[in-house]
Amino acid sequence: MGETWWRGAAIYQVYLRSFADGNGDGFGDLAGLRNRLTYLADLGINAVWLNPWYPSPMSDGGYDVADYRNIEPVFGTLAEAEKLIQEAHDLGIRIIIDVVPNHCSDHHVWFREALDAGPGSAARERFWFRPGRDGGPPNDWQSIFGGPAWTQVADGEWYLHLFAPEQPDFNWNSPAVRDEFLDVLRFWFDRGVDGIRIDSAAVLIKDPDAEPDGDDPYTDRDGVHQIYRAWRQVADDYAGRVLIGEVWLPDQARFARYLRPDELHTAFNFDFLACPWDASALRGVIDATLATHEPLGAPPTWVLSNHDVTRPVTRYGRADTSFDHGDRKHGAPSDLGLGIRRARAAALLAMALPGGVYVYQGEELGLPEIEDLPDGLRQDPIWTRSGNTDRGRDGCRVPLPWSGEAPPFGYSSGRSWLPQPPNWRELTVERQETAESSMLSLYRTALRIRREKLGDGTVTWLPLGEQVLAFTRESGLTCVVNLGPEPVPLPAHETVLLASGSLDGDVLPADTAAWLL
Ligand code: NOJ
Repeated sequence: MGETWWRGAAIYQVYLRSFADGNGDGFGDLAGLRNRLTYLADLGINAVWLNPWYPSPMSDGGYDVADYRNIEPVFGTLAEAEKLIQEAHDLGIRIIIDVVPNHCSDHHVWFREALDAGPGSAARERFWFRPGRDGGPPNDWQSIFGGPAWTQVADGEWYLHLFAPEQPDFNWNSPAVRDEFLDVLRFWFDRGVDGIRIDSAAVLIKDPDAEPDGDDPYTDRDGVHQIYRAWRQVADDYAGRVLIGEVWLPDQARFARYLRPDELHTAFNFDFLACPWDASALRGVIDATLATHEPLGAPPTWVLSNHDVTRPVTRYGRADTSFDHGDRKHGAPSDLGLGIRRARAAALLAMALPGGVYVYQGEELGLPEIEDLPDGLRQDPIWTRSGNTDRGRDGCRVPLPWSGEAPPFGYSSGRSWLPQPPNWRELTVERQETAESSMLSLYRTALRIRREKLGDGTVTWLPLGEQVLAFTRESGLTCVVNLGPEPVPLPAHETVLLASGSLDGDVLPADTAAWLL
């Protein structure tokens, strides 16, 4: 795959806390991941993206980073991380880590210094400290997790946090902040990390002092691009490293600006993830995505799930199959049988499209969202910040079922930090590995075929009717997905390489996809 390995890569997202526990404390860790690397190699992925693994009080699942150059002790040690990188490389798996530049933890030494140093100090310049206004916060910005975006400290000043109060925002006008992150990138590239997933990449630049000007006060400000140009120069000093942006923007033209040749290499395609199970909506998203990326020469990405969104099996089984952060549709009835059928077809669609594809742990097992977690166990700050109205994201973060007949299903020798439902015995890796019709077998086969015949490139659409998405790739592989209620005849072919459900001769049933040669 060479230096541009990421262009057509299949990237598996490891939510370390819930992947596999190596020491019995109930939390996933590096030891657990290292024990399971062969599982990932057998799955056929090219790279692993790990959510933040740094020392953290875990107020937001590790997105509150206390030290960017070390490993959270619950997860392991820096030496173990280095071993993991080496072992993964030996198996042909690249390692992508998460860097969180918008904010740190309130336990970060810089924030501690800023609190101690007091108003007007250089230490406070690295954050956004301001006096209040009319007895309240400096402005009316709201936190993305709910509630005000400002918290007052003992001396009366307020600091800005776009997310939880435990996540103070850095002031990216500060040269110290800029230099620090360039150095953090080098620190990890020097340790062999192959790529960086950039958290909340579009919100770094903000001016809380400015009068509202009609533009969004912190999302996608023009100044953010200068930051990524500097990051790209660092990445370019090393061979084969990739910068991946978490860029949620409704406007494709604005999104594209992050992928200019001297900025990020790729960014997540959230339009695809959020799109309902509807042929014309999906065709629209695919066409728009391809049209945005093609002139830039940047590969698109295809994402069906991650640690922030409702699992596809549950989402696709609902009456409303779209996803929206504002309205997670928690508890809306879901026909999981239908959801699985569609999630299987969606996987073949995502994997056949040109560019990179992401698989969030458990997606390959067809895990549903767990919507009935006891409220007392919920850890996502969204739950408390929303005044207990939004149940948040814990339901897609439940630890993986590996083996056996009862929780914690080989995940841990102790008690898993979130409970798994007993009926996940049907969904363990052990159970699925030997079942030809399982989701895991589908993913394995699809990823194997994808390595040879799919990935980077272009598509040629085939007109097979409004309810059908059909296209051919350079290798000659044709992907056909039937999103309509009626079965449709398959186009002429020699072989069916793979199908997401049983075919009826040469007829493709509803909510089914097939790969043909
Ligand atoms: C996006 C991450 O994916 C999410 O999990 C996190 O809560 C926010 N950024 C804040 O860091």
